[in-house]
Amino acid sequence: MKKFLVIPSLLLVAVLAWRYVALPLPEHWSEQEVRLIQSLALASLPDLPPDSSNRLADDPAAAELGHRLYFDTRLSSNGKVACASCHQPELMFTDGLALAMGLGMGSRHTPSLVGIAYSPWFYWDGRKDSQWSQALAPLEAAVEHDTDRVAVLRLILADQRYRELYENLFGPLAAPDHLPDSASPLGNAERLAAWNSMETDAQIAVSTAFSNLGKALAAYQRLLLPGPARFDDYATAIATDPSTMQAGSLSRAEVGGLQLFLGKAQCASCHNGPLFTNHEFHNTGVFAIAGQLPPMGRYDGIRTAREDPFNCLGEFSDAAASECIELRFARDENDLVGAQKTPTLRNVTLTAPYMHGGQFKTLAEVIQHYNDAPTSMLNHNEAKPLGLRAVEASQLEAFLHTLTAPLATDKKWLVAPDYE
Ligand code: HEC
Ligand code: HEC
Repeated sequence: MKKFLVIPSLLLVAVLAWRYVALPLPEHWSEQEVRLIQSLALASLPDLPPDSSNRLADDPAAAELGHRLYFDTRLSSNGKVACASCHQPELMFTDGLALAMGLGMGSRHTPSLVGIAYSPWFYWDGRKDSQWSQALAPLEAAVEHDTDRVAVLRLILADQRYRELYENLFGPLAAPDHLPDSASPLGNAERLAAWNSMETDAQIAVSTAFSNLGKALAAYQRLLLPGPARFDDYATAIATDPSTMQAGSLSRAEVGGLQLFLGKAQCASCHNGPLFTNHEFHNTGVFAIAGQLPPMGRYDGIRTAREDPFNCLGEFSDAAASECIELRFARDENDLVGAQKTPTLRNVTLTAPYMHGGQFKTLAEVIQHYNDAPTSMLNHNEAKPLGLRAVEASQLEAFLHTLTAPLATDKKWLVAPDYE
C-alpha cells in the first residue's frame, strides 16, 4: 500500500471501530444498577390495585360478560367492528396499523392493552380516568364502532344470554318507555335529537346500563397481564448472583443494551417499573401526524377527563369522592402541552408501528429519534440528544427484544367466546 494511504486508512478503521465495536462489559453491575434491574422485573409488579369506581372490577362473572362484549361485532353500526378488531390478541392487543381503522380512519395509533389496568389514565392524552369509562367511548365514536348506548342496550335486551349475564350482575334490566332505536348525547344530529326527546329518568337509566357494560369490559381487560420474559429470568439470576453480568439468559449485546437503557440512554427515567412505564405524560418531540396539527396532549386530556360525566366523581362511578385521588389532584400545568402517556415497553417487538400516531415503523427508528432528540413542534422536548454510537443503538434494540413473552392470561380469554 502507498505510504500516503496508510494514515487515512487507519483513521477510517478507528472511526468504524468507534461506531461499530462494542466496549467490553464491566466486571459486574453496581449496587444501584442491581436495584434498578430488580425494580423493572415482573417479580416487582404489585397485585392489581382495586378500582373503587367499579365495584365489579374483579368479579369473574363481570369478566365473562366483558369477554363476550369485547369480541362481539354486533356492537357496531355495520356489524363488523369489535374491540378485538383493533386490539387483536395475536398482536398484543394492537392492530399493526399506524392509525386505527374502524368504521373510518382514526386519528391515533392503537396502543397495547397488556397490563393496562395498572394505568391510572387512559388514552395517549389521558382523557379518561377509568377503564370502564374509557370502554364506552369507542362504542359511540363515529370512526370506531359507530353505535350508541340505546342501540347497545337494545342488543342486550334482545339477546337472552347477554340479558341473563347482565341481570345476574346488575339486577333487572327493562327498556324505559318509548325507547328510540338509537340515541346518544354524543351522536350525530339524528341520534342527538332522539336523545333530547327522552325523559331525564330514561336517559339516566340508559347511561347507567351503558356504564355497567363498560364495567364488565373493564373486568375482562383486567385479566390481560404480561408474563415473565427473558429479561425477568435475567433479573432473577442477578438477584442471587450480582457478581456476574453474563448470567446466561441474555447475550452480551442484550446486557450491554440493558446497561445503556439504565444509564447513558436514560430510557429508564420514563420507562420504569415492571411495566416499563411511569404512567406519566411527557413531551418527547415526536413529529406531528401527517395532516394534523401537533396535538395538545395531556394539557387537553386532563381538562376533558374533568368534564367527563363518566369520570370517578360522576354519578355512574361507584367511588366515594374521597377515593378519586388521581382525578382531584392531577397536574394540569402548561408543561403538559404536547405530552403523551409513556407506553409500556413489554412485548414492544410485537406492537409496531410506534408512538401515538404510529410515526415510526421500527424500533431502530424510535432509537434514532431518541438519539437525535429533535426540537419539539409544540412546547419542548424533555429528552436530550444521547450521542449513542451505532453499536450502542443496536445493543439497546437487542435489549428491547428481551421483553417479549406470552401473556400470563388463561388462553380462553384470548379468543372469542362461544356465542351459541
Ligand atoms: C377502530 C379501532 C379501535 C376500536 C374498535 C377500539 N379501540 Fe381501543 N383504542 C384505539 C385507539 C386508536 C386508541 C388510542 C386513542 C387515543 O389515545 O386517542 C385506543 C385506546 C384504548 C385504550 C386505552 C389504552 C391506553 O394505553 O391508555 C383502551 C383501554 C382501549 N382502547 C380499549 C378498547 C375497548 C374496550 C374497545 C371496545 C369497546 C376498544 N378499545 C375499541 C383503537 C380502537
Ligand atoms: C422523557 C420521558 C421518556 C424517555 C426519556 C424515553 N421515553 Fe420512550 N416514550 C415516552 C413517551 C411519552 C412515549 C410516547 C410518545 C408519543 O407517542 O408521542 C414513548 C414511546 C416509546 C416507544 C414506542 C412504544 C409504543 O408502543 O408506541 C418506545 C419503543 C420507546 N419509547 C423506547 C424508549 C427508549 C429505548 C428510550 C431510551 C433511549 C426512551 N424510550 C426514552 C417517554 C420517554
